[in-house]
Amino acid sequence: MKSMVPPFRIKVVEPAKVTTREERWQALKDANMNVFLLDAEDCYIDLLTDSGTGAMSTRQWAALMLGDESYAGSRSFKKFEETIKTITGIKHVLPTHQGRAAENILATIVKPGHVIPNNSHFDTTRANIEFVGGKALNLLCEEGLDMGSEAPFKGNMDLEKLEACIEEYGAEQIPFCMITVTNNTGGGQPVSMENIRAVKAILAQHDIPLIIDACRFAENAFFIHEREEGYQDKTLLEIAQEMFSYADGATMSCKKDGMANIGGFLICNDDAWAEHFRNALILREGFPTYGGLAGRDLEVIAVGLMEALDYDYQAYRHSCVEYIAEKLDEMGVPYLRPVGGHAIYLDAKAFLQHIPQSQYPGIGLVNALYIEGGVRGVELGSVMFGSKDEQGNEIPSELELVRLAIPRRVYTQSHFDYLVQVIGEVWKNRFVVCGYKMTKEPPFLRHFTCHFEAVEAARRVIPLRVRKTGS
Ligand code: F0G
Repeated sequence: MKSMVPPFRIKVVEPAKVTTREERWQALKDANMNVFLLDAEDCYIDLLTDSGTGAMSTRQWAALMLGDESYAGSRSFKKFEETIKTITGIKHVLPTHQGRAAENILATIVKPGHVIPNNSHFDTTRANIEFVGGKALNLLCEEGLDMGSEAPFKGNMDLEKLEACIEEYGAEQIPFCMITVTNNTGGGQPVSMENIRAVKAILAQHDIPLIIDACRFAENAFFIHEREEGYQDKTLLEIAQEMFSYADGATMSCKKDGMANIGGFLICNDDAWAEHFRNALILREGFPTYGGLAGRDLEVIAVGLMEALDYDYQAYRHSCVEYIAEKLDEMGVPYLRPVGGHAIYLDAKAFLQHIPQSQYPGIGLVNALYIEGGVRGVELGSVMFGSKDEQGNEIPSELELVRLAIPRRVYTQSHFDYLVQVIGEVWKNRFVVCGYKMTKEPPFLRHFTCHFEAVEAARRVIPLRVRKTGS
């Protein structure tokens, strides 16, 4: 077992509340058994997301003080712009307050009936496209759909499906095609350089621009460095530069590989698009040299984007997920393989085989992890992605996953050892974990605010465990 080697020391610490099992049980009951409704301070290890939850470096904190808060033409914007141009080579840079704001502005060129292919759309990307009447298509490669496949680039786009899509809808209906690196919705799996190059070649024949959803571009660059032939002697910056050289634009959430707590951007090469986007930006976010951010945020991001491309940082980052994955392998805990860049995706269907999909095994697992050890994960299964037929009956989602996303530079190996222990305990006692029914369901994005209740049989089991094992 290789230890992780963090390329940093800890200078400031944030207290984390240690709770007892009884307190967690009560907190979850008060939150109507939905971990989204918990107070964050009641979560000892919060793995809800890797977005905006990272720790900044001393260089970023120092940069924060340099923020130029001028309304127009600030020095901080120049640094932000220059850094992004160095990494991407793309001409126009528009800051936004986060990734979905960039998507929202990009979607202003989508018209009803347009089709936007992607390896897999993230939910906000899909929502922004569908909101303006576009159709968001996922064209993920076959290996990406196979939970057990150990293929190195399971985030790749299926090239045949892309060609078929252009044939079916016609290039004039496709204002741009996207590719998401890494593919969050598909388990944080990487996309190979070969695939990005091939996608671009197909699109170029039809004059369709390629937009990269670049949230985790540096993690993807690291995967290419480790797994793709010909990239071992290149720096992560050089790999990123090549990735973006195939793109006509990109959307970015700097809450991921910008190593910042807030921020994003939209970039493009086309002058007419840039003009249009700038006008949309002014309406939605602010003047084009701050776009929804403070000058200090721009400074922090300019430093963070480069820190994300540090090889030692990425090696450490990937060793965190690999460390957890190896321990899960030892215990036989099922998860989506091979492990992705920013998260472990537990396979709740295989983990809790006694819970039918109609009783949300993903929620069963999320809640059990919380009660057992104050670990907050998120269900990516039938609650988040399930749909309904015309009679209102639930159609379960294909996969029932629980994502444990790892915030950047926040938790230590000891935290991960604790996490593994918690997962191990739940795994050992999995047959007493119960299913849930929904008792309150909002009409949209129900996972955020719905209420759950344990199904009858299990309601008797869990309190017993609470009394028996104590904290
Ligand atoms: N694209 C991808 C691939 C993402 O993972 C996210 C956010 C966004 C776009 C939107 O960016 O949050 O800054 O508006 N993902 C977070 C997550 C929320 O938990 O995976 P945003």
